[in-house]
Amino acid sequence: MRTQVVIIGGGPSGLLLSQLLLKAGVETIVLERKTREYVLARIRAGILEQGMVNLLREADVADRLDREGFVHDGTLIASDNDTFRIDFAKSVGVPVVVYGQTEVTRDLYNAREATGGETVFEADDVCLHDVKSDAPYVTFRKDGRDQRIDCDYIAGCDGFHGVSRETIPKDVRQEFEKVYPFGWLGVLSETPPVDDELIYANSERGFALCSMRNANLSRYYVQCPLTDRVEDWSDDAFWEELKRRIPEKAADTLITGPTIEKSIAPLRSFVTEPMQWGRLFLCGDAAHIVPPTGAKGLNTAASDVHYLYHALKDHYLDNSDKGIETYSTRALARVWKAERFSWWMTNLLHRFPEQSGFDRRMQQADLAFLRDNEAAQQAMAENYVGLPY
Ligand code: FAD
Ligand code: DHB
Repeated sequence: MRTQVVIIGGGPSGLLLSQLLLKAGVETIVLERKTREYVLARIRAGILEQGMVNLLREADVADRLDREGFVHDGTLIASDNDTFRIDFAKSVGVPVVVYGQTEVTRDLYNAREATGGETVFEADDVCLHDVKSDAPYVTFRKDGRDQRIDCDYIAGCDGFHGVSRETIPKDVRQEFEKVYPFGWLGVLSETPPVDDELIYANSERGFALCSMRNANLSRYYVQCPLTDRVEDWSDDAFWEELKRRIPEKAADTLITGPTIEKSIAPLRSFVTEPMQWGRLFLCGDAAHIVPPTGAKGLNTAASDVHYLYHALKDHYLDNSDKGIETYSTRALARVWKAERFSWWMTNLLHRFPEQSGFDRRMQQADLAFLRDNEAAQQAMAENYVGLPY
């Protein structure tokens, strides 16, 4: 087989890139290790920045998002029983949109099917070859048969555990990592959200987040020790813990019910540099991870896609390689700002096992400054709704 761009990974980064390129007339083949059903069963992010919404519109996959997404003009921050609001509309005039990653992925798969784009599911043993040459190729096994695709470029959109990043030699790659001493236990429940807006809560018992997917689907999280196992958390234990961490008014009105998904995710900050090597470009979680606080994971994947899409489009349509040469530098400049914001929000809102009295007072002072200072609110809002591409 031959194509212009092989995209490894059929998650949101790979699919969005493939749809944008297809619209621009650039041929791609997407190789995904799992089945479509498996990818769609993963419950992950829920908040989209305006930049990502615009990119989905540009890819012609935003009809349902525009109809069903909830536009949020602000978010609530609670510090024990003191709750204040960050007003995105007033501070920066831009909202965020609540629409699940699962739905984004579903819309992208549907569009890919409708437009005839090629996706190979259950592609095993994907291997990248001659990435530093002008003639790279990718091999994989499908239904027991070895296959090869020759191409011009390879987009590594295969997430944190993919093969693309590892293809870049160790002496070229620099990795930066911070692992946090706790995780997030998340549940999905078919109950109405406790509030119209999200509530980020810093409580004596640890962080909690009230989020949502739609009018009858709520997403809640509590900070938990890394040693906890999902099986040890009954639904009742989860709801009790959540109620103890969120403001009293919310706890009193919280509607509970059976959970339909429950999982624990560790928290990590990670960046690999550079994001390009020869004809391979890394995109999304393949190159970087943020702790989820502030909802930057999926959105930062989208900004990488934006830079890479324009770089490839300029190469094929305008004969310009400037975007290709500067991809890594431009993507990383924005990635590091998202890393900083997620790290800051994580530090602001969680209880750390080794936290001293001084550390706690710093956190309280940071929260009070944010509550009382319009410039601080504006800085928070600018980052939360998404820095410009
Ligand atoms: P992925 O979504 O990881 O997609 C990569 C794809 O590549 C997968 O489909 C995988 O099967 C495929 N793949 C992997 N290896 C290979 C291979 N060798 N060959 C072929 N295919 C391969 N972000 C937020 O903003 N808010 C959240 O609440 C949030 N919650 C999260 C919860 C969890 C448990 C995780 C893991 C992440 C969460 N994130 C969240 C982060 C967000 O989901 C990611 O940033 C986003 O999925 C990145 O998209 P991606 O396409 O780059 O990577
Ligand atoms: C969600 C996750 C986040 O990490 C966040 O900051 C906001 C919302 C969510 O899953 O809805």
